[in-house]
Amino acid sequence: MTPVSDRNHRITFQRTPQGLPVPEDFGADTTPIPTPGPGQFLSRTVYLSLDPYYRNVMKGSQIYAERLKPGDTMVGETVAQIVESRHTDFRAGEFVLVKNGWQEYALSAGQGVRKLDPAVAPVSTALGVLGMPGLTGYTGLIYLGEPKPGETVVVSAATGAVGSTAGQVARLVGARVVGIAGSDEKCEYAVRELGFDACVNYRKGDLVQLLKAACPAGIDVYFDNVGGDTLAAVLRNLALHARIVLCGMIESYSMDKPPPGPFLGPVVGARATMRGLVVYDHLHRMDELVRVVGAWIRADKFRYREDMTDGLANAPSAFCRLMQGRNFGKTLVRVSAEHS
Ligand SMILES: NC(=O)c1ccc[n+]([C@@H]2O[C@H](COP(=O)([O-])OP(=O)(O)OC[C@H]3O[C@@H](n4cnc5c(N)ncnc54)[C@H](OP(=O)(O)O)[C@@H]3O)[C@@H](O)[C@H]2O)c1
Repeated sequence: MTPVSDRNHRITFQRTPQGLPVPEDFGADTTPIPTPGPGQFLSRTVYLSLDPYYRNVMKGSQIYAERLKPGDTMVGETVAQIVESRHTDFRAGEFVLVKNGWQEYALSAGQGVRKLDPAVAPVSTALGVLGMPGLTGYTGLIYLGEPKPGETVVVSAATGAVGSTAGQVARLVGARVVGIAGSDEKCEYAVRELGFDACVNYRKGDLVQLLKAACPAGIDVYFDNVGGDTLAAVLRNLALHARIVLCGMIESYSMDKPPPGPFLGPVVGARATMRGLVVYDHLHRMDELVRVVGAWIRADKFRYREDMTDGLANAPSAFCRLMQGRNFGKTLVRVSAEHS
């Protein structure tokens, strides 16, 4: 195979966008088409994946390995066809999944490269449903969401690469699936084509109420691709023991400062789990507490402190102190002597 032009066109990172990205944040130039050295191959980009996380890479977010400085080729996953190979494992003509970035040609030494068989599926799917976004939707839903047949699963950005995968997987494991999307056309696609049971258009009405109507028994699993107001509306409709998969927060990617309220981005970066706790669910463990912690107290391995106020009449002021945070330790009122 020979290159179709004698120059390599590429799109470069120019500057960090202010708010939503604009074309001026990127540059364009050409470079010579490189020649593979021993152990390398040259490939021609066929498909370039555009993913929301690039916006975060452009602002230097630490959770991604990619770093960009002005003039660098924009990063990105690609499906490419090998033009010339001096690598023993790769041959000219083969299709590969490789990180060429936003350019027509690139060299690779084969690390992290996956060969693609066009007979298995269209090669473009390696960047979508059979690639990173598909894996995100599939594994996030199955292993973090743990949907059960009959449960209600809600997915935002429902028609996107990640959301459409998560939603269809939920349907195929027997859950009732409700999408959230930004137009009637997207909602219709989610229901008609993807087989969702319902889909609400958040641009048409109050999302809290739309979800209440679409999920009368509450939401058991929420697969969140958006964050912000969408997440807030879902939180008002949770069923008991609901699971929330924080996958993406696209609403905030183009914001220069984190949005108001607790910013949950670090929860994703840290792969953290947030769970609600109601002590009454654990009342059967009271004997265990008394046995275990009681023994630690007697062995002087465990300390406690009491903030004691004498006299019932002083209870209101002690309570007010507590609510002002001026108590120090377990706040108690000694109403009468322990030993009379
Ligand atoms: N955690 C991970 O490892 C991981 C991996 C891959 C992707 N992700 C995340 O998964 C999410 C979906 O990714 P995708 O590649 O499948 O993209 P996508 O869903 O194809 O495209 C993004 C969609 O987000 C929706 N959206 C809602 N609010 C938006 C806003 N304020 N600005 C822009 N778009 C908004 C839009 O759909 P509507 O019009 O329907 O709202 C838009 O089409 C993203 O948040 C991405 O960062 C996470």
